[in-house]
Amino acid sequence: MIQVENLTKRYAGGEAVRSISFSVEKGEVVGFLGPNGAGKSTTMRMLTGYLSATDGRIEVAGAKLPEQSLLVRQRIGYMPENVPLYPEMRVEDFLEYRGRLKRVSRGEINHRVGLVLDQCGLTEVRKKIIGTLSKGFRQRVGLADALVHNPPLLILDEPTAGLDPHQIRSFRELIKDLGRERTILLSTHILSEVEMVCRRAIIINRGRIEASDTLANLEKRVQAGALQIEVKADSGIAKEKLSQLQDVGAVAELNRAGDWISFEVTALPGKDIRGGVDDLIKKENWPLREFRREKARLEDVFVELTQE
Ligand SMILES: Nc1ncnc2c1ncn2[C@@H]1O[C@H](COP(=O)(O)OP(=O)(O)OP(=O)(O)O)[C@@H](O)[C@H]1O
Ligand SMILES: [Mg+2]
Repeated sequence: MIQVENLTKRYAGGEAVRSISFSVEKGEVVGFLGPNGAGKSTTMRMLTGYLSATDGRIEVAGAKLPEQSLLVRQRIGYMPENVPLYPEMRVEDFLEYRGRLKRVSRGEINHRVGLVLDQCGLTEVRKKIIGTLSKGFRQRVGLADALVHNPPLLILDEPTAGLDPHQIRSFRELIKDLGRERTILLSTHILSEVEMVCRRAIIINRGRIEASDTLANLEKRVQAGALQIEVKADSGIAKEKLSQLQDVGAVAELNRAGDWISFEVTALPGKDIRGGVDDLIKKENWPLREFRREKARLEDVFVELTQE
């Protein structure tokens, strides 16, 4: 659905995007992540034909850029970072206008507008002037605009920025729903959102792609989380025996409560030490009252891949 090869954008101030290549297959919901200034919005604006590339090849929804930019705009739904709405228009008039601009036929337009108003929870405010809506509702109008021509591909640049937790939740559900029958590329700083709606993420940093993989594989790259155990044992002996286990990187004593001692046992990257630790506890006959693994999270991956 998206194919990008050696895409570069040079602004007067320097290179914002440096020869990146990636692709997104039909039906995928992909998170596009990176710190502030990484080049996410620049890339998305090039993908949607709103900004010309300095160099590289882009093919989106079966059309090539820049040659077929009109076709691209008809086939994608783009929600830019600062949604440019017409503040003096009424919600439904705006959506009708935008739909017509994106070649929705006269016969279909009312049906499409009604549908996206409903999908985006805008039916109640359909007659309101956009400029009088709250930020969250204006974001929804931006999404409705991206959807009105029923595009197979959605490119959403921080769609939940500035929303309250209730709105973020309903937005996320909506995006999940939309992802069932569409391809979506979504940028956000809310990593839990990516964990909930995306299967794959592309991480960009200073104009370069640092990683592009399924969340499951990304999480395997960093220290596979730490294991926390609480046992009744001699602290020195326990620490030594745990340290000698295969694939154990470090053992730290966390806390004592009477005879109980808790340890944090860290695995070498990508290794699973649960079996080994469990066997040792059984073999030594240590009474055990806690055994818990802290899962590596996308946040850990993000921080590790994008640090200075
Ligand atoms: N119109 C422009 N002219 C010059 N430089 C620009 C322009 N737009 C963006 N940049 C620069 O390009 C780099 C990438 O910006 P971009 O907006 O793509 O980042 P981003 O990943 O979307 O960041 P954020 O998370 O803050 O939205 C930044 O260094 C930015 O200052
Ligand atoms: Mg941005």
